[in-house]
Amino acid sequence: MNRDWNHDFTAILEEAPESEPDRQRFFIARAKLLAEEKSAGLGRPLTCCINTFGCQMNSRDSEKLMGVLEAIGYVPVEDEDADFTLYNTCTVRENANKRVYGRLGHLGALKKKHPGMIIALCGCMMQEPQVVEKIKKTYRQVDLIFGTHNIYKLAELLTQRLLSEKMVVDVWEGTDKIVEELPTDRKFSFKSGVNIMFGCNNFCSYCIVPYVRGRERSRNPEDILDEIRRLAADGVVEVMLLGQNVNSYGKTLEHPVSFAELLKQVTQIEGIERIRFMTSHPKDLSCELIEVMKSSRKICPHLHLPLQSGSSRILHIMNRRYTKEQYLELVDRIRQAIPNISLTTDIIVGFPGETEEDFLETMDVVERVRFDSAFTFIYSKRTGTPAAEMDGQVPEDVVKHRFDRLLTQVQRISSEVSGRDLHTVQKVLAEEVNSHDSRLLTGRLSNNTIVHFPGSPNLIGKIVDVRLDEIKGFYYMGTLQK
Ligand code: 5AD
Ligand code: SF4
Repeated sequence: MNRDWNHDFTAILEEAPESEPDRQRFFIARAKLLAEEKSAGLGRPLTCCINTFGCQMNSRDSEKLMGVLEAIGYVPVEDEDADFTLYNTCTVRENANKRVYGRLGHLGALKKKHPGMIIALCGCMMQEPQVVEKIKKTYRQVDLIFGTHNIYKLAELLTQRLLSEKMVVDVWEGTDKIVEELPTDRKFSFKSGVNIMFGCNNFCSYCIVPYVRGRERSRNPEDILDEIRRLAADGVVEVMLLGQNVNSYGKTLEHPVSFAELLKQVTQIEGIERIRFMTSHPKDLSCELIEVMKSSRKICPHLHLPLQSGSSRILHIMNRRYTKEQYLELVDRIRQAIPNISLTTDIIVGFPGETEEDFLETMDVVERVRFDSAFTFIYSKRTGTPAAEMDGQVPEDVVKHRFDRLLTQVQRISSEVSGRDLHTVQKVLAEEVNSHDSRLLTGRLSNNTIVHFPGSPNLIGKIVDVRLDEIKGFYYMGTLQK
């Protein structure tokens, strides 16, 4: 039926299919017509910019959001002074929130000079009711707010905004829905993140993620494998399987599948040469997983294994459900099976009640494990988490002093550990032209270490042999082997 659309949103809703992803396809088409009208009026294509904060989950979400915007007809630009500017926010630590508020003032000024500009906010920070209230009250320049559970609805929400001129707010408390098969725009042609699960059930006492990302939901293995097969057919050679706690993948599926089994199936996919995954919770890392990693040359010898603290007492209060000894024993088991593995970690300093003795336990684990690298964080109080209510918040100057000592130790060890493959020839995935010297390519070893080497851009996306000639801090300089 050829309908005369009259810009009445309710009329559109009547027409829109109920089921997904058809409903969003419908709204992509609808938004496209509206965007074309706007674009014709301006005499130029509409532009969009997505600014992503936080983790790999958010980066992957942004690729999906960009896929939808491009399908609507927006052209991506780097500059935030675009017709549609979206901030995909993070709230894991307070700093991330502060940065967004800071930038919103700047966006408001841009909008005054750029009539018709649409400012949108989504992601973890928007799942906090007090944040949305503050934005509604203080940042009226914002046009569209949505959360983590409904990013797939971007086309529908944007249509609503284009038709109504009012601020559109749609944030869900939770969901059990996973919408598959919407467009995605990959940042790299040869590597891609793949969500295998969403949410987290662990409730570590300092962490806001379970509250803003909801309960754990695993995608069906067939959907994941189909996506990876399609990626492989499209030239992708490396996938990063993404979840807050990949080691508990599949436990809640109707027909439970373990993460190790899923990994094994991914290794069977032709064209996929490298498989990474993130993040592993030490309490759920199985012997089966170590075996699968050991027996497949495609699975990269790298584990990101957040420690958080080396004190069993603090780990207990953090609700991490392992002790210092169990963590060390796990590391031993992993290293015995896969001696060349690269281990990285996350550590929090200044958790409530942390004493000097507790902190020294953390330093001790760092010294014993000798991580390839460690992300160190100062504890940040997140409203709504159990730790925010705990006594014994550590004074700022004490935390800062501990943090500096830890960082010095972590960096010393990283520089001692790096360089262990010096003078060997390794497989390197060439990823991009070096940003400082265009004669060089920048690539990664399978254990994630960076290598710069002279080479031509047509090697980008290919796995090549590179001799590692020199170690410079945390990266190598190398030469291509013919
Ligand atoms: N304060 C500081 N760091 C935190 N993380 C999570 N929550 C907090 C918090 N409240 C860190 C953890 C986690 C990483 C992604 O962020 O180390 O592994
Ligand atoms: Fe947060 Fe713990 Fe879940 Fe990681 S496992 S997202 S630290 S609650």
